[in-house]
Amino acid sequence: MNMNRLKIVFATFLFGLLPLFAFAQNNLNTKFDKIMANGFKAEGIASLDRIHQDETQKFCSNPNFVNTKQGAIKAIEIQKINMATISQPTDGKYIGDWQNGETIAQSGRGATWTDKLETVNGGGCYNCHEINKKEISYGTIGPSLWNYGKARGYSQEVITYTWNRINNSKAYNACSNMPRFGHYKLLTQQQIQDVMALLLDPQSPVNQ
Ligand code: HEC
Repeated sequence: MNMNRLKIVFATFLFGLLPLFAFAQNNLNTKFDKIMANGFKAEGIASLDRIHQDETQKFCSNPNFVNTKQGAIKAIEIQKINMATISQPTDGKYIGDWQNGETIAQSGRGATWTDKLETVNGGGCYNCHEINKKEISYGTIGPSLWNYGKARGYSQEVITYTWNRINNSKAYNACSNMPRFGHYKLLTQQQIQDVMALLLDPQSPVNQ
């Protein structure tokens, strides 16, 4: 019997004792919150505000709800909230310099307790994506972005979608594993334009 089935049977069995069940569940949450609070300490620029979850993160931290019908409805609402946070480039420029973009995609520096406030953040894109075939070390949590523009074309629709994705991936997938680079100001507008070029400049090695 898998875990979920087991839980359903267990919950049905305890139907008459529902308040007790809720109490146990609450206790579990308290235990989890305690682990979170004890497991993290403020160090350098990484302060404890990092463990405060916004509405999106709270929603995604509760997979039992996410995987329900109501959860699916809520996910669409969460995506709308995230979509509303995205701004288009203030200078109307979507495509910057792919060479700078490669450096940004390669760098995993920034925002950690060993970084300074003035450290320039990287995107760490290779942690999760294959991008330039020349880079042989990459993670596979995300899809390969090799030939990104060549395969999809360079239409405004593709450009805007990619801009939005990099700025706030949760606008398309409420519980996406991809960091919200624009939303959390992890990357500047210029850096996002440069990473965009790596994916969408026809001259970029990614599109050869
Ligand atoms: C922690 C992992 C992670 C990191 C880091 C990450 N991504 Fe992603 N990315 C994903 C995942 C997973 C998806 C798949 C879609 C989803 O989950 O929403 C994705 C999807 C995408 C897509 C959409 C692909 C498509 O076919 O529609 C683009 C574009 C993208 N990422 C670009 C980037 C760029 C550029 C960076 C660096 C600035 C980056 N990603 C960093 C995990 C990551």
